[in-house]
Amino acid sequence: MKIKYYGHSAFEITSNTGVRILIDPFLDGNPLSPIRSDQVKADFIILSHAHSDHLGDTLKIAKKNDSMVIAVAELAAYLAGKGLKTHGMQIGGSRIFPFGKIKFTLAFHGNNTSDGRYAGLAAGILLWVDDSCIYHCGDTGLFGDMKLIGEMNSVDYMLVPIGDNFTMGPEDAVKAVELVSPRIVIPMHYNTWPIIQVDANNFAEKVQAIGKECFLLKPGEEIS
Ligand code: NI
Ligand code: MN
Repeated sequence: MKIKYYGHSAFEITSNTGVRILIDPFLDGNPLSPIRSDQVKADFIILSHAHSDHLGDTLKIAKKNDSMVIAVAELAAYLAGKGLKTHGMQIGGSRIFPFGKIKFTLAFHGNNTSDGRYAGLAAGILLWVDDSCIYHCGDTGLFGDMKLIGEMNSVDYMLVPIGDNFTMGPEDAVKAVELVSPRIVIPMHYNTWPIIQVDANNFAEKVQAIGKECFLLKPGEEIS
């Protein structure tokens, strides 16, 4: 399994069997993305919520690649109405797909489409691929049930927002890491614009100080 970062909250996960999964593919409008939406391939696209910095280029990518889009049911229905192949789920439910398992979980955040439609609850994503458990927190504030998420799932990679203003800032994100207790931490949703500019090195030091590994992936970088 490989995890590649495209900046903001966009990741590409490739399973050992070659299944390509994009999470929150905000590429063309993303000042940090090293790649354009017509250069990526995706078998599946998983969305945390409908805000334009997460839905991103889903329509273009899914139409070109015939990707299956997995999202909370209201957002999935909205995208099905745009002609996409979708699978709707809800928070707490899990399902097995050809690459592994997905479960949507809590995120404290809004969720509407750019044309003002309610898109269901914003979500975090738990994803199991090739024996690894990835927790993409989506956009969220800190909440105590992260402890439960950590207890119920042995999280290997926690992709956690640290940019403040719209999501947790670095201090709350360190607490979130403590609650979930993952093996490896990868910060996201920061430095895309001045309003979410933070000192990621300082965050990484604080995470290391509580005994967790933290990787600051540069856009375009991947780990396996
Ligand atoms: Ni958002
Ligand atoms: Mn966002």
